[in-house]
Amino acid sequence: MFHAAIRPCVRKRSKAASVGGPKHSVKFKEVRLYLVERKMGSSRRSFLTQLARSKGFIVDDHLSDEITHVVSEDSRASSLWAWLKGCGLTNLSKMQVLHISWFTDSMRVGSPAAVENRHLIQDTPPALQEGSAPALAPAPAPAPAASVSQYACQRRTSTDNKNKILTDAFEVLAEYYELSELQSSCLVFRRAASVLKSLPWTVQCIEATQGLPCLGDHTKAIMEEILQSGHSFDVERILSSERYQTLKLFTSMFGVGPKTAEKWYRRGLRSFSDIVAEPSVQLNPMQQSGFLHYGDISRVVTKAEAQALGNIIDQAVRLITSDGVIALTGGFRRGKEVGHDVDFIVTTHEVGKEGCVLRHIIDSFKKQGILLYCDYQASTFHVSKLPCKSFEAMDYYPKCFLILRLEASQVDGGLGCAEGDNRGWRAVRVDLVSPPMDRYAFALLGWTGSTQFDRDLRRFARKERRMILDNHTLYDKTKGRFLTARSEEDIFAHLGLEYVEPWQRNA
Ligand code: CTP
Ligand code: MN
Ligand code: MN
Repeated sequence: MFHAAIRPCVRKRSKAASVGGPKHSVKFKEVRLYLVERKMGSSRRSFLTQLARSKGFIVDDHLSDEITHVVSEDSRASSLWAWLKGCGLTNLSKMQVLHISWFTDSMRVGSPAAVENRHLIQDTPPALQEGSAPALAPAPAPAPAASVSQYACQRRTSTDNKNKILTDAFEVLAEYYELSELQSSCLVFRRAASVLKSLPWTVQCIEATQGLPCLGDHTKAIMEEILQSGHSFDVERILSSERYQTLKLFTSMFGVGPKTAEKWYRRGLRSFSDIVAEPSVQLNPMQQSGFLHYGDISRVVTKAEAQALGNIIDQAVRLITSDGVIALTGGFRRGKEVGHDVDFIVTTHEVGKEGCVLRHIIDSFKKQGILLYCDYQASTFHVSKLPCKSFEAMDYYPKCFLILRLEASQVDGGLGCAEGDNRGWRAVRVDLVSPPMDRYAFALLGWTGSTQFDRDLRRFARKERRMILDNHTLYDKTKGRFLTARSEEDIFAHLGLEYVEPWQRNA
């Protein structure tokens, strides 16, 4: 097949395998081991390599078709097998893929131990990997439960994306469909990108993706094209189209969504100067501020800038109440280095006072002269509205979407601004939300995101548990009652899900 050319993991058997350490005589010529470094770590791996060689075993440093026994400390079958399949081996079906216990048994007896069932790390049949996820109370590693789930809330996704080339392409397509208001096509590519982001290995040939969920024919065709030629014709065409470029430009402005962007595009407008010059276009206050501060707020916010804003909010809250609660949420809570804004929960322990707190904070910003724009939305919360029926609905809490002025002197290491810009300040987008304390855990989970992670938490709750989850509550339809939660851990536990740390929610 044409993939034969792409065999990045497989190397010719290293001549260096036995060079370096002391020479040992080979006792078992028919056995050739490969120790998987993942989970084992490099120092333990070299220790075990030396140990086995001293006992007369052949241990290769590189994976090749000559290996007879693959030994792994990590017994999560699906990720190990997916990785092995991505290595372009032709002899994989003949290899023994074994748990470290086989290795230790062998070392103990000083010869290759007979392979027993308990040693095997078996490949998971695709049928078990795809369909609905098994109902799992936190279970120890073995096969089906450990396979890659179709739900982002059952995967762990750090900010370290090993498949950026592929996910960037999928995100362009997702965005293109979103701008065209084709939500289901958009979701197809968002889900595919999300699965690839969760992989701890890089996809190097299409065979390696066998058994992964959420990858249909269309997504696979695009992946195949990129893996072979480095780019996708469809993606390039979209990126260079006037329509896509214009809609991207318009929606990059604060307060402009796909609908407005499309309307302007249809009127023949193509640039910001076209918009300003067009008498029939009336910018609303949000868009006017977005326009005024475009240069600043279209630039990323750094961690240090987010930290500085946290300090400013903290000071404002202290002046108002000794009862305040502040939490950083959004992308920064997930460990991202930069963001398009900074998101905070700001509230009080005393239920019912949260709306006041937010208004006082806004007043304080105004007095300090740092409030450049404020869209305050009072609470529309009432228990009778729960559980929310509409899936993607915004929550009912008091909240505000702000543009604040941030002084360079307040930021550790200064502002991350453009060269030659010495104004000494920048405008930053900040979102604040104030849930009552008895709803805090639900709000924190919802505002931490990622959007895709939240979407799948809700979908999982609905489809697998007959529960309705939103930013306010969790409702069990079977029992006909609301489930309370004091922490995010409580919510995962109600759903029968293993807890996923915030930095593992970058789905
Ligand atoms: N969110 C929400 N209700 C809103 C606004 C936002 O629940 N009215 C949630 C989003 O679903 C998301 C989180 O708040 O999970 C943060 O949103 P956003 O700032 O848009 O995204 P980030 O993940 O923080 O990404 P970035 O770093 O680009 O800001
Ligand atoms: Mn954010
Ligand atoms: Mn936000």
